[in-house]
Amino acid sequence: MISLSDLRQFKQQGRKFSCLTCYDASMAQVMERAEIDSILVGDSLGMVIQGHDSTLPVTVADMVYHTAAVRRGNRHAFLMTDLPFLSYANVNDTVANARAVMQAGAQMVKIEGGAWLAESIEVLTRNGVPVCVHLGLTPQSVHVFGGYKVQGKTRAAADQLIADCQAVVAAGAAILLLECVPAKLGKEIAEMFSDIPVIGIGAGADTDGQVLVVQDMLGLNLGHVARFVRNFMQEQSGANAIHDAFKAYHQAVQTAEFPAIEHTFQVEL
Ligand code: KIV
Repeated sequence: MISLSDLRQFKQQGRKFSCLTCYDASMAQVMERAEIDSILVGDSLGMVIQGHDSTLPVTVADMVYHTAAVRRGNRHAFLMTDLPFLSYANVNDTVANARAVMQAGAQMVKIEGGAWLAESIEVLTRNGVPVCVHLGLTPQSVHVFGGYKVQGKTRAAADQLIADCQAVVAAGAAILLLECVPAKLGKEIAEMFSDIPVIGIGAGADTDGQVLVVQDMLGLNLGHVARFVRNFMQEQSGANAIHDAFKAYHQAVQTAEFPAIEHTFQVEL
């Protein structure tokens, strides 16, 4: 089973790693066959599985249920699970909810935010729970942002995001995940932290890992398709198409062929 230290080692070796969201055992099994390095049981399940128009309705019980299913289907990938909306607003809730998803099989929890998470990150890390912090476009704050928009587009906004990264890393965050930020900012942050793997989604080609929502990369999302998505399924045919799409994604991430320029946000900072 891939561990956090393996992901750190991949970063040291310059070996890019693949990550996909996953919510069920059979898809998790196919991902294991395709040797996907890491899986995120994302609260995006509120949208792609439950049909809501945001991630806000997702509960801790939902995350526990899907984490356990994915872990049963896949013993290979490093498994991260989101703590959902307002389930980590204070330290007591954070600890109780992290316990629930870790006991369901997660190897790490992911929380959205910045410097204000420092106390929770410290407490979790001290108690054996590695933390990934999701920055940039954080979907649980969609109503604060007023929509799903690219973040860090000015030098001042980019510097604020970097300051948040520094604060959460100082508190003990072990992985950073950047969503929808200019490619140059993704590169700057990945280079700034030599021992912290940085995963990107719409953060350019220079982060250490890439993540996509599985429904997006299989072309199962019939609504708005974000710029950073590539449909790997479209490029396959035959009975093993899903496996082959995962394999093609894994290889494209490793060789840095994905994301290409057309999947990234090019902004002069
Ligand atoms: O919930 C999720 O799927 C995520 C990804 C978009 C990174 O947080």
